Amino acid sequence: MPPLVLGTLELATPVLSAPVAGFTDLVYRGILREFGGCGLIFTEMVSAGGWILGKFAPDRLAGVREEPRPLGVQLWDREPDYVREAAARLRDYQISVIDLNFGCPKRRIMGKQGAGATLLRDPWAVGRIVSAAVAGAGPIPVTAKIRLGPSLEETTAVEVARSAEANGAAAVTVHGRTAEQAYGEPVDLAMIARVAAAVSIPVIANGDVDDASSAVRTLAATGAAGIMVARAALVRPWIFREIAAALCGEAPLPPPTVREQTAQLLRHHAALVDRHGDPWGTVQMRKFACRYMTGVPGSAEFRSAISRAKDADDFRRIVEGFAAGVAADACAATAGVAGDGGFADEECSATPAAVSARAADRAS
Ligand SMILES: Cc1cc2nc3c(=O)[nH]c(=O)nc-3n(C[C@H](O)[C@H](O)[C@H](O)COP(=O)(O)O)c2cc1C
Repeated sequence: MPPLVLGTLELATPVLSAPVAGFTDLVYRGILREFGGCGLIFTEMVSAGGWILGKFAPDRLAGVREEPRPLGVQLWDREPDYVREAAARLRDYQISVIDLNFGCPKRRIMGKQGAGATLLRDPWAVGRIVSAAVAGAGPIPVTAKIRLGPSLEETTAVEVARSAEANGAAAVTVHGRTAEQAYGEPVDLAMIARVAAAVSIPVIANGDVDDASSAVRTLAATGAAGIMVARAALVRPWIFREIAAALCGEAPLPPPTVREQTAQLLRHHAALVDRHGDPWGTVQMRKFACRYMTGVPGSAEFRSAISRAKDADDFRRIVEGFAAGVAADACAATAGVAGDGGFADEECSATPAAVSARAADRAS
């Protein structure tokens, strides 16, 4: 697959980590870098006007000056002047890419603010905002992230992408649903393909990529130059290296074992507590922990317990108890299936998928 180039920036892989508000913070971005395979990582979306007007000091920009590159920051606003000024500030941060949010379906952003996916109704307005960002950003590539349109009756993605391109966008990411659809319907890959065919800048396909084969399928069906992943990477932050390997025709590194995942979970929690203190770091970690163990038997009970963890000690106790239960289950299953406790230690290091498969075998 040819390299993905955004303006002057050539990415090491065409697999991007999406902006995800409430999740893609400094600590999570560090974890993604450790697992590797991700060509570009984005921050959460940042309100350009809120930043410029000094209504808040965006915690979402914490660490951004010092972090390794490439790193993208996403801005949202409907006011071109705020966007231009925020982009100029980000130039001072020497950020790699500035992305503009034209896809957020949240009522707070679309309604009162008239921003996010509301702007998809007006390709001309999108163009003005892109143009303002390009003027402020100087040499930094500006990209736009869109949905197919506000609703199925108004699928404006082709016009919006053309307007973004005409006003200097270096690429467009298309989430293959309308704002009204939220996540209700499967992504429309044919519509993403129409956008990719309509512009000369790279189009990055987004939506429902949850493993290497869905990434390969999405690229083939859309003709997109890259892939962006959001939700699946919150469950399996190593997904980027799996997709990147598949795109090069290489065998992926094996996924982490349950034991490694547990250690990872505790490291992530420790980093958040280090950054935010306790219990706030623990509170922040609950939503990640709920996702991390998806697919491992007993994860429903784990989720219920961890979402109520009140402080760091409580959190560690719940995780360690869960991990001990999973290991015991895997060992017992192996002893039962193979009749040979000699494999037990190996089995205790099983991947979540293997543990699940074994649990299903036992159940059937
Ligand atoms: C909790 C959550 C927060 C999100 N925050 C943002 C955001 O800040 N900016 C943005 O452009 N998209 C945001 N998105 C949308 C994702 O970036 C992505 O477009 C969407 O989830 C589809 O990709 P996926 O199927 O890989 O999850 C968010 C999605 C979720 C679930």
